[in-house]
Amino acid sequence: MNIDDLSKDEILLIINKAIEIKANPEKYAQALAGKTLLMMFEKPSLRTRLSFETGFNKLGGHAIFYSFKDSPLGKKENISDTAKCATRYADIVMIRAYSQQQIREFADNSSVPVIDALSDNAHPCQILADLQTMKEKGKDIENMKLCYLGNGNNNVTFDLMRAAALLGATCYVGCPDGEEFNVPQRVIDECAKHPGKVVVTHDAAEAAKDADVVYTDTWVNYGVSLEEMEAREKVLLPYQVNAAAMGNAKPDAIFMNCLPAMREKEQTAEVIDGPQSVVFDEAENRMWAQNALMLHLLGKL
Ligand code: CP
Ligand code: NVA
Repeated sequence: MNIDDLSKDEILLIINKAIEIKANPEKYAQALAGKTLLMMFEKPSLRTRLSFETGFNKLGGHAIFYSFKDSPLGKKENISDTAKCATRYADIVMIRAYSQQQIREFADNSSVPVIDALSDNAHPCQILADLQTMKEKGKDIENMKLCYLGNGNNNVTFDLMRAAALLGATCYVGCPDGEEFNVPQRVIDECAKHPGKVVVTHDAAEAAKDADVVYTDTWVNYGVSLEEMEAREKVLLPYQVNAAAMGNAKPDAIFMNCLPAMREKEQTAEVIDGPQSVVFDEAENRMWAQNALMLHLLGKL
């Protein structure tokens, strides 16, 4: 499951349901009793691991953590055999992997729903939680202006763009020019099929102007060495979210980061620890949005 596998109506249903489940968790305490979630991880995680496992328990189900490190996958077994076996045990699967291609191949051989829990191309659960957070903070998610500043060649950026396009909202991405950090044309083309307005600019002030939401993400994705930070910082610093960038947005704009975050890199401490920041609500909402998504995928909404 990816964000663009969902229709606008499904996205709105999931977000509204997430808000309802958050308000009345006891109503859903047995909704997935007897069900098993398999959580497969190739990349590191804090929030995704904890929110899926805790969230599934809150629905009455049982979650299994499985690391690619423990797996014969890619060494003694191919993806299709892994998928055909694993999905005999589990009712639903989430996978965090480097390559979305691997997740797709698993899904093609799975008899149960498979969720992309972050890959090179996507982070749909993050964006569902973010949309829930925006709505809770009073944003009109079908008509807002979203601004993303930083690395444009990035999974979270792509899914923010895709979600804004699907919902009919506006998303400006302010990022450096050049292959490394610019949004690939294929993602812009995907968004152009939907009603929303998506603009990629290399002018950070234009991107942030009158935005309802200012969003950023790490300059060093999982798998990128921290030793690269110095070189990246030189290119990405004009796209840092600092007080000046927030000053270009609407006075009641909120600041978002999917986390993990590094202060004085993609945003200043003043911004992430300031009154406009909603980053910990986003982190919590991962759990509620994913629970709504899993109930939807299992036909329980
Ligand atoms: N935002 C997010 O996915 O966090 P983790 O990498 O800690 O799971
Ligand atoms: N873009 C980041 C998101 C981390 C949750 C990464 O891929 O590492």
